[in-house]
Amino acid sequence: MKIKISNISKIISWNISTESIEIIENKDILIESGKISQISNDIVSYDEMIDAKQCIVTPGFIDTHTHPVFIGNRANEFELRAKGKTYQEISKMGGGIKSSVNSLRQASEEELYFASYNNIKPFIHFGTTTLEAKSGYGLSLKDEVKSLKVLKKINESLDINIIPTFLGAHDFPDEFKNNKEEYVRLICEEMIPQVAEQELAVFCDVFCEEGYFNHEQTKKICNAARINNLEIKLHVDEFKDSSGAYLAGELNATSADHLMKSNVKGLKHMAKNGVIATILPGTTLFLGMNTYANGRQIIDAGCDIALASDYNPGSCTIYSLPIIMALSCLYCGLSVEDAFKGVTYNAAKAINRHDSIGLIKENYFADLLFWDIETIAEIPYWFNSDKLSMVMKKGKLV
Ligand code: NIG
Ligand code: FE
Repeated sequence: MKIKISNISKIISWNISTESIEIIENKDILIESGKISQISNDIVSYDEMIDAKQCIVTPGFIDTHTHPVFIGNRANEFELRAKGKTYQEISKMGGGIKSSVNSLRQASEEELYFASYNNIKPFIHFGTTTLEAKSGYGLSLKDEVKSLKVLKKINESLDINIIPTFLGAHDFPDEFKNNKEEYVRLICEEMIPQVAEQELAVFCDVFCEEGYFNHEQTKKICNAARINNLEIKLHVDEFKDSSGAYLAGELNATSADHLMKSNVKGLKHMAKNGVIATILPGTTLFLGMNTYANGRQIIDAGCDIALASDYNPGSCTIYSLPIIMALSCLYCGLSVEDAFKGVTYNAAKAINRHDSIGLIKENYFADLLFWDIETIAEIPYWFNSDKLSMVMKKGKLV
């Protein structure tokens, strides 16, 4: 089946040769088997035609950092933050990640499936066609596997591509709070091998931060991940500079995320080792802080920046990458072009998929967004409105 998209006002994508935004006018797109097979003004043979109604067409957006496998909510913590409590204080009071762990452990796989399905479905409405999604509220072999199985099932049932990440190292569960090394052993010797054997994850992530996993524990977990063919992502330097960025460079992680407090030496080490810098300004906003990651400094250190929502029940409930783009332009020093690249091409790099998604190019998947706008600046500008007319995933309108 050949589908032709005609009447496009502009095709806008990142051009990897010129390292700039590419605007293609007066051309149609031909799609075969879910992939772009031609971009031309001379497409005569096709089975079906889609009228783009003079929309701008961009690549589908890629959200490279989310925690959507949870049940229930933590609005009570929002109330506490509104009264001045910090994320860390709430966590010490027994809230935070632990409270989501309690509810997830009590849920059956089916209950968790429905809750997580409802968490993930809205992303499509805001133009996200690929979603990296982490486990991390199970923190036991059984509940981490349950979480990743739920992701696998949602991937099969929704028109969004899910890239699963194992985040058993999100926190230490209560039963190991006095024996942290034993939990690290459990992750390395039992959880990672099982997750890998059942092909339930592509990446392994660690929350490397004071009060969570230290450098040595992070290294052990990442080594076990590598041995089991999982690539590495890290949460680093969110609340404090603990040289997490440098560690991400040392470990050749695919991406290091948060980076609100990272130092320049660490950022340069990331750049040298090709680690993508993922910034999550929605979290800074939602936690009521003003310590946004310094995107300009990160770019000047030589890193490529991806943007992500960090969607989770505690520190950010934003689904929309256009909102994240707006925050990154307003508070992290990014230009509109940087932000656009951060949710398309660089985002694809942050999940190792830059040879198949994130660009509008022949042989790439036809993950396309149709916008009723005239320039890409209008994407973050109209961040709260419905300028996105149609979303296409692998050649299918969804
Ligand atoms: O990325 N920082 C660690 N994990 C999440 C928060 C998880 C939670 O509070 O439930 C984050 O912000
Ligand atoms: Fe996170």
